[in-house]
Amino acid sequence: MSSKVIAIDGPAASGKSTAAAGVARALGIPYVNTGSLYRAVALLAGNELDPVPERVLSRLQLAYLRNADGEFELAIDGRFPGAVLRRPEIAAGASRVATQPAVRAALLELQRKMAENGWLVMEGRDIGTVVFPDAAFKFFITASPEERARRRLAQAGETPDGATLEEVAAEIRKRDEQDAGRAVAPLRPAPGAVLVDTTDLTAEAVKRRILNLVERSVCTTK
Ligand code: DC
Repeated sequence: MSSKVIAIDGPAASGKSTAAAGVARALGIPYVNTGSLYRAVALLAGNELDPVPERVLSRLQLAYLRNADGEFELAIDGRFPGAVLRRPEIAAGASRVATQPAVRAALLELQRKMAENGWLVMEGRDIGTVVFPDAAFKFFITASPEERARRRLAQAGETPDGATLEEVAAEIRKRDEQDAGRAVAPLRPAPGAVLVDTTDLTAEAVKRRILNLVERSVCTTK
């Protein structure tokens, strides 16, 4: 039997978080953003990113808990780190630690455990390829690099103050190369994943496209 997971993968700022959150809300099921795990490791490792020391990995206390809005959010040692995880330097660190097999192995079990309690939407880079190759539904969300840079610039706190579109586009290209070029769990569409190019689509249209494919199965077997 396939896992009751709607896997949504794709590159940075492709619109996948908005789509994943919207789909989960519409279906009344949890939404898990796995990028926050890699961001948390980068935060905890501080200046020791290459490689992340074993003592940091062996003491990870990460869990997705319900926040005040009732959404699942990553907590470190039982506390929500909040906006610090969205900082550009943490995003860059996350992309670096995500290339390390020891880091990915430390986070795999936690992600797999999440699907034990029923349907959920899980978003990341390798959900359909590695974490849940047997996911019931797999989507790969993309958008042109220019459009992704525009979207990232529009998100407060996610780019350095005064950053230009060109600088943000260059940073996104660098992260794409790191995420898609790494040896372990590289970013790529899972076999059988439905590709959705969001460049010219509204967030609502992306959400509808996904819901059209999954709604009936999830609602009848919840
Ligand atoms: O989705 P995000 O920008 O929060 O992800 C931060 C980094 O974590 C990104 O550069 C790639 C990495 N990541 C990953 O390798 N695998 C995942 N499942 C999720 C994120």
